[in-house]
Amino acid sequence: MLTTVPRGTKDILPENVHEWQYLENKIRELCLLYGFNEIRTPMFEHTELFMRGIGETTDVVEKEMYTFLDRGGRSITLRPENTASAVRSYLQNKLYADGGITKLFYIGSMFRYDKPQAGRYREFHQFGIEAIGEQSSLIDAEVISLGAALLKDLGLNDVLLKINSVGCPKCRPVYREKLQSFFKDKLTELCNDCQSRYERNPLRILDCKNPHCKELAEGAPKITDCLCEECADHFDKLQDSLTNLGIDYILDSHLVRGLDYYTKTAFEFKYLPLGAQSAILGGGRYDGLIEECGGNPTPAVGFATGLERVLLALETQKLLPPKNAYCDVFIIAMGKKAEQPAFKLLQQLHDKKLSALMDYAGRSMKAQMKQANKNGAKYAVIIGDDELANESATVRNMTDSAQTTVPFASLIDKITFEVNK
Ligand code: HAM
Repeated sequence: MLTTVPRGTKDILPENVHEWQYLENKIRELCLLYGFNEIRTPMFEHTELFMRGIGETTDVVEKEMYTFLDRGGRSITLRPENTASAVRSYLQNKLYADGGITKLFYIGSMFRYDKPQAGRYREFHQFGIEAIGEQSSLIDAEVISLGAALLKDLGLNDVLLKINSVGCPKCRPVYREKLQSFFKDKLTELCNDCQSRYERNPLRILDCKNPHCKELAEGAPKITDCLCEECADHFDKLQDSLTNLGIDYILDSHLVRGLDYYTKTAFEFKYLPLGAQSAILGGGRYDGLIEECGGNPTPAVGFATGLERVLLALETQKLLPPKNAYCDVFIIAMGKKAEQPAFKLLQQLHDKKLSALMDYAGRSMKAQMKQANKNGAKYAVIIGDDELANESATVRNMTDSAQTTVPFASLIDKITFEVNK
């Protein structure tokens, strides 16, 4: 126990952290281009926010939340997603853009008590964006195009964009009834989860992973045939915009998403080689959430992507960058007397903003040279008895093995010059 992480969590080790940084840098570059500003909300919120925001009959709220009473007796939940928190913060901090759109993005840990497997964790990381305050389908298209641009920038091929419209409170009840009458005589054949979904949330039956439920759902009425004029028009215009931008998509009338706040647009980017965890990015419009959380009716749209899944996808396509060793100078001190001068030099190089390392254990020249190589040092500076006697160091270029003798007095300047040249 003491030496094992809790199930469904992972350490991100020094040998892999550059992969995360690479991905996060791409994300930040892109968000800057599209005018999304970073927001960092707390890892935990009042449980009520997620119950109301995500929906009490969703799997996330019913089965997956990490909820506990704090010492003050308040019900607290580790965030299972960041949209509800972003909306809470938007309202609390009055982030309304005067008549315009508030564009937010976040990167951080989310927590769901899911069944851990490759690509599915209990602590996972999402990058997400939320565009709050605009109802035009142009912003839905922009949000989708940012997702597409990220995957493209990363070089990820074989990604499939699926879109659907899940309607609005005006047209969805009509569809719900149609769906219930479609499943009525199949009810006993549905899995237990779907039997309980039938009354509470029948749209979710369409999304069930159970093969028999999938079979039964074939031929189900399509929500896109039941949309009200406003939703149908919005969906048509979105498709026009995606076509205009050259973004390929397929219509999937069974795409309903697992969170209850969606209205109109729903979409997912799938990377099929990840199998059951192929959903790498998902989102949609949520025009009712801000009002549900106590604000004025405000339209909004966004997505989130699971960073672990994106990294897995990049790994399968060998698109992850190699780890670059970063060491300008490795100082090799030979003998006790050289130790303090070498240690002083180490600090002087750090003061010059050079990356410098040394050995502290008095190992052999061969062992220290090996360490210098392992760390990818550009130069090794050797200080031993001879060097101390001559008040000069031996500087070795690790690329071509050329060695020069440099007086202590000019050593810092010489190394700084060589490294920066
Ligand atoms: P979501 O579909 O629940 O949507 O999650 C978004 C993405 O997070 C998924 O496509 C998947 O890549 C990743 N993900 C979800 N659960 C796990 C897990 N257990 N392990 C690893 N990755 C996971 C949302 O969370 C919405 N808040 C998205 C959104 C933003 N909609 C509008 N704005």
